[in-house]
Amino acid sequence: MIVWTVANQKGGVGKTTTVVALAGLLSQRNKRVLLIDTDPHGSLTSYFDYDMDSLPHSLFDLFQAQQPTRTLFEQVALTTRFAGITLLPASISLATLERTSSSREGMGLVLKRMLAEVQNEFDVVIIDCPPVLGVMMVNALAACDRILVPVQTEFLAIKGLERMVSTFKLMHRARKNGFNYTVVPTMFDQRTRASIQSLDSLKQEYDGNLWPSVIPVDTKFRDASLRHEPPSYFAKGCRGVFAYQSLLRYLWQLDGVEAAL
Ligand SMILES: Nc1ncnc2c1ncn2[C@@H]1O[C@H](COP(=O)(O)OP(=O)(O)OP(=O)(O)O)[C@@H](O)[C@H]1O
Ligand SMILES: [Mg+2]
Repeated sequence: MIVWTVANQKGGVGKTTTVVALAGLLSQRNKRVLLIDTDPHGSLTSYFDYDMDSLPHSLFDLFQAQQPTRTLFEQVALTTRFAGITLLPASISLATLERTSSSREGMGLVLKRMLAEVQNEFDVVIIDCPPVLGVMMVNALAACDRILVPVQTEFLAIKGLERMVSTFKLMHRARKNGFNYTVVPTMFDQRTRASIQSLDSLKQEYDGNLWPSVIPVDTKFRDASLRHEPPSYFAKGCRGVFAYQSLLRYLWQLDGVEAAL
């Protein structure tokens, strides 16, 4: 099982889109995928057409239990219309954890402990984070093998990235087994100078941690989300899907997974 966390403190950079795009492609390659929505806004949960307010259980239940169990996991997990994709939905109450849980011991390891319970049941776990550095992101970072950092190719976004990476480095000190991260340039528009120049500065500053390609601006992503379908189900041949395919292949090799995609 590989665990990828998709995180960036900046909002609207393509985190949730990256989670869903990769999940769709993995599903079409017969992989068993677990998606975890740690964002109290529940964008990933609504992407799969679930209404957060009417769900009886959510990730919050797992955080409330001191020790998450398999039985509880099964209660919370939802199936989706897409083969092999399971979802742990968010709820608005996750926001309250940010205020109450920092003092509770072991609160940063809830996701990691929960994943240990379902180790053999999924090939890939992808965790979607809110654009906030809080207890959810701490959990997601502690539980993952690699952090994917979508970065919108524009100047302000790149400034935020420096902050994000230093945060990772701080947290890294608290981890025993190191950490890997990959910067993923998103919403690239080759017609704009801002896109081209910001990609250049990413190359200079993050060379070894930069995916050497880009996710282009593609309106099909928005259309796919309105239809509640992963982009590769909705518009198989579009350029955005091709780009995520190449990202997936890259990550797959990087993380040394044996089985070919
Ligand atoms: N490559 C792209 N081209 C065009 N539109 C995109 C692209 N990627 C994402 N979008 C659109 O941009 C918007 C924001 O994307 P998304 O929700 O994935 O960002 P996010 O980082 O998860 O945001 P938040 O921080 O609020 O959770 C969505 O409407 C999405 O459809
Ligand atoms: Mg999001």
